[in-house]
Amino acid sequence: MFHNSAEFCILRMSASRAWTVGAVFLMWLFGSSLLIGAQDGITDPIEVQALRDIKSTLIDTNKNLSNWNRGDPCTSNWTGVLCFNTSLDDGYRHVRELQLLNMNLTGSLSPELRRLSRLEILDFMWNGLSGSIPKEIGNITSLKLLLLNGNHLTGPLPEELGYLPNLDRIQIDQNNISGPIPTSFANLNKTKHFHMNNNSISGQIPPELARLPYLVHFLLDNNNLSGYLPPELSKMPNLTILQLDNNNFNGTTIPDSYGNMSKLLKLSLRSCSLQGPIPDLSRMPILAYLDLSSNRLNGTIPTNQLSQNMTTIDLSNNELTGSIPANFSSLPNLQKLLLANNSLNGSVLSSLWQNKTLNATESLTLDLENNRLTNISDSINLPPNVTLWLKGNPVCINDNINLRQQCASRSDNVTGSQSTTNSTAVCQPQSCPYPYEYSPTSNLSCFCAAPLLIGYRLKSPGFSDFPPYTIRFEDYLTSGLDLDFQQLYIDSFAWEEGPRLKMYLKLYPVYNATSNSRNMFNMSEVQRIRRMFTGWLIPDSDIFGPYELLNFNLLDIYNEGTVTTSSGGISTGALIGIVLGGIAVAVTLSAVVTLLILRVRLRNYHAISKRRHTSKASIKIDGVKSFTYTELAMATNNFNISTQVGQGGYGKVYRGILADGMVVAIKRAQEGSLQGEREFLTEIQLLSRLHHRNLVSLIGYCDEEGEQMLVYEFMSNGTLRDHLSAKSKETLSFAMRLRLAFGSAKGILYLHTEADPPIFHRDIKASNILLDSKFTAKVADFGLSRLAPVPDVEGAAPAHVSTVVKGTPGYLDPEYFLTHKLTDKSDVYSLGVVFLELLTGMHPISHGKNIVREVNLAYQSGMIFSVIDGRMGSYPSECVEKFVALALKSCQDETDSRPSMADVVRELENICLMMPESDMGVSESIDTVAGKMAPVTPSSSVVKNPYVSSDVSGSDLVSGVVPTITPR
Ligand SMILES: *[C@@H]1O[C@H](CO)[C@@H](O)[C@H](O)[C@H]1NC(C)=O
Ligand SMILES: *[C@@H]1O[C@H](CO)[C@@H](O)[C@H](O)[C@H]1NC(C)=O
Ligand SMILES: *[C@@H]1O[C@H](CO)[C@@H](O)[C@H](O)[C@H]1NC(C)=O
Ligand SMILES: *[C@@H]1O[C@H](CO)[C@@H](O)[C@H](O)[C@H]1NC(C)=O
Repeated sequence: MFHNSAEFCILRMSASRAWTVGAVFLMWLFGSSLLIGAQDGITDPIEVQALRDIKSTLIDTNKNLSNWNRGDPCTSNWTGVLCFNTSLDDGYRHVRELQLLNMNLTGSLSPELRRLSRLEILDFMWNGLSGSIPKEIGNITSLKLLLLNGNHLTGPLPEELGYLPNLDRIQIDQNNISGPIPTSFANLNKTKHFHMNNNSISGQIPPELARLPYLVHFLLDNNNLSGYLPPELSKMPNLTILQLDNNNFNGTTIPDSYGNMSKLLKLSLRSCSLQGPIPDLSRMPILAYLDLSSNRLNGTIPTNQLSQNMTTIDLSNNELTGSIPANFSSLPNLQKLLLANNSLNGSVLSSLWQNKTLNATESLTLDLENNRLTNISDSINLPPNVTLWLKGNPVCINDNINLRQQCASRSDNVTGSQSTTNSTAVCQPQSCPYPYEYSPTSNLSCFCAAPLLIGYRLKSPGFSDFPPYTIRFEDYLTSGLDLDFQQLYIDSFAWEEGPRLKMYLKLYPVYNATSNSRNMFNMSEVQRIRRMFTGWLIPDSDIFGPYELLNFNLLDIYNEGTVTTSSGGISTGALIGIVLGGIAVAVTLSAVVTLLILRVRLRNYHAISKRRHTSKASIKIDGVKSFTYTELAMATNNFNISTQVGQGGYGKVYRGILADGMVVAIKRAQEGSLQGEREFLTEIQLLSRLHHRNLVSLIGYCDEEGEQMLVYEFMSNGTLRDHLSAKSKETLSFAMRLRLAFGSAKGILYLHTEADPPIFHRDIKASNILLDSKFTAKVADFGLSRLAPVPDVEGAAPAHVSTVVKGTPGYLDPEYFLTHKLTDKSDVYSLGVVFLELLTGMHPISHGKNIVREVNLAYQSGMIFSVIDGRMGSYPSECVEKFVALALKSCQDETDSRPSMADVVRELENICLMMPESDMGVSESIDTVAGKMAPVTPSSSVVKNPYVSSDVSGSDLVSGVVPTITPR
């Protein structure tokens, strides 16, 4: 171990410094006492071993912990290991924090964690850990923050955790923890936060928890709690949020005593199977958010005065009777009053909206649907930003013309409301060199800066509408972080189920005139800010409630050099001291031999480290966005397995949600598929110019050290192959299949004829044809290293001879296979195979049978309908016959016998025109084609053919099909 430590430290230094060390070492040999720099000491060997044991039960797919076998944990910056700055009483350094947030770790938590006896923060948030929470964590008496949320942990909550005397925060939400809350938790005398929502915790809430003196946030929503709500909880002196939605309290009542919680800001008991009356809430002076919806509460709504801070009152879906109390009228901060689906009668009080003056950011929603309200107390004259819903009340029946809008069904766009804050920036985005961007935060000067990117979520905010609170939020967060108000930018925010408010924040450095227009945070500032977030050192806010850190991503420029998440850099003096300390123990025989060995390794080390410093040219490609690794990592929850939607030869494909809410597919090249940077960018440049309705569009890319990714629009209906498989629930009609064939052919024709240089796809198959939400076929996976041959000097395109045959068995053009000559007809062949799949539902090769051969045999023996997919319902047989003939012609062995792609498109159009309209099913999204040819209709009563769009002029077929290409 010491030997390693010495080696590693020297390896990190430049050669010249290694020689300095050598010199110092010799001086030490001669008895010099220069070595006082060693005072910092090494990590407690017990903890070093514990860390190794902890690593051994983890699966570290991303190799984040690869430096956990080199040197000393505290002094060699092991990833995520933060230590006390100096040795403690026993002369050793000790681990203070284990910060392994969002590192794609799987595996389990080792009981050896208990040996980190001075640990204060244990952070494994947002990984994929499974297994149970080791009871041994209960031995770490110094522990303050236990952060295990966002894993797959199972098993019960160990009783032992209840004896942690210093625990401030227990965050185990979003796991699969089961069993009851141990009564021992009533001993957690210092705990302020119970965040245990979204687990399977069951049983009674122990009334003993009422003893907890400092508890402020009690979040146990979305569990399997049962029993009753203990009235004693009202005695908790500091409780501000009680959130227990989606549990089953089995017809019991809300204790009256809850109306006595004078510090309570939020009470959320949605869907808890509660019965009985609503307690008197008039003794809750700061209550802001009340959600008692979806229970079976009955009786009348209490009429006592409510807190002036109310923002949200949701009593919908209960059995409440009586009238709407007037006390709802005088609430200055009210954003939502939801009383729908009750049995309220009497009149709709116009005092609810009269006298309201809302500014541009404020709004008020009043949902009173499905009650027994009979009239409106006064005139209906809604101020701007007030929305009123009344459908399902008698007041709507009288056909009151003034209420037409309020009585209408609402168009459903309720969930997932997504918004981006308006940039107040005066600086237009211009070319700051990558990865700098114009700081939108200053209206005084425009400057390029490298922001910190932060994924952040308010778990239980005390409002329903963010805009009126954004400035307060910015103020709260920046003052909590000790930053300038100007340094924070809310890039976007979105409400999620809960409701929780997710945000994407950017922090910008302050302007520094001497930084040569490239402003960065210095590293100690980055570490300070990160620590504020990960140590929950930002003071709690009442109205914003608890927050979660989803990720804290550093742009690469912040990772260059030796910066890590560890606690500060190490001075050279200390380093030498450590090296010498190590050498003193390890090397007693021959120092000279050791140094010689190290010199050799040093050379190797430099060879490796060179790679890191290749600088990136900043390239702007029109029409596509250049994403940073961190942006895409955020979009996919750090490439979490749960977001993976596919895998191909190129690498894995993930479903991601960009900061602006857009859903995308992200293709991430695996090692071995990486191309040279220039080739990669050339291809993107090419792809960026391809735009066709039947091609999956490229939205952007990421090209960073060791990472190449392509970002495409997301196709919600998956691959054509999925829909043809026997397992598919909904089967495609013949008309749909024809439409998909037509679309695919048009997409490919575009690649052949309009791309410059032309592109041969080379890997057309049913799983490369994707379907969007409207079942439009879109060809995917084109263009990558797949350029068609460039015409030679004579002007004719030579058949391309490649050395490697690429493609998928079953789809491969036999001639290409034999000769390695690639032509546009190779794509015709593969597409023909796809047509046969569409017609028969068979796989190209199954049980050793080849689809082309099988269909040919059936066709020649006049038995073609015996192989047609029976699941596609009825179809006009002449259309099917023509389609089969086209497919088989496309699959001829000889290239010359096959039709060209343009012929294929033309013939498909003919077949489409023969289809009766009643068979066409989905018609509104049907491709429009130039209708030069008169519809050839079967004798049936076809009036109008949806394939022929009336507004298309009779231009030439191909150019009518193919939209124009973006000019360069
Ligand atoms: C919690 O569980 C509920 C109900 O299953 C779900 O709708 C919600 O999205 C979950 N929330 C989180 C943050 O996982
Ligand atoms: C609420 O507090 C008041 C005053 O402290 C007390 O008299 C009353 O009994 C309490 N109500 C309940 C239901 O605990
Ligand atoms: C409640 O309202 C009062 C008065 O309007 C205000 O001073 C206080 O800050 C509010 N409390 C919260 C938690 O919003
Ligand atoms: C009221 O009930 C109807 C029918 O059950 C439901 O569709 C609607 O979402 C409910 N409204 C609210 C606000 O929950």
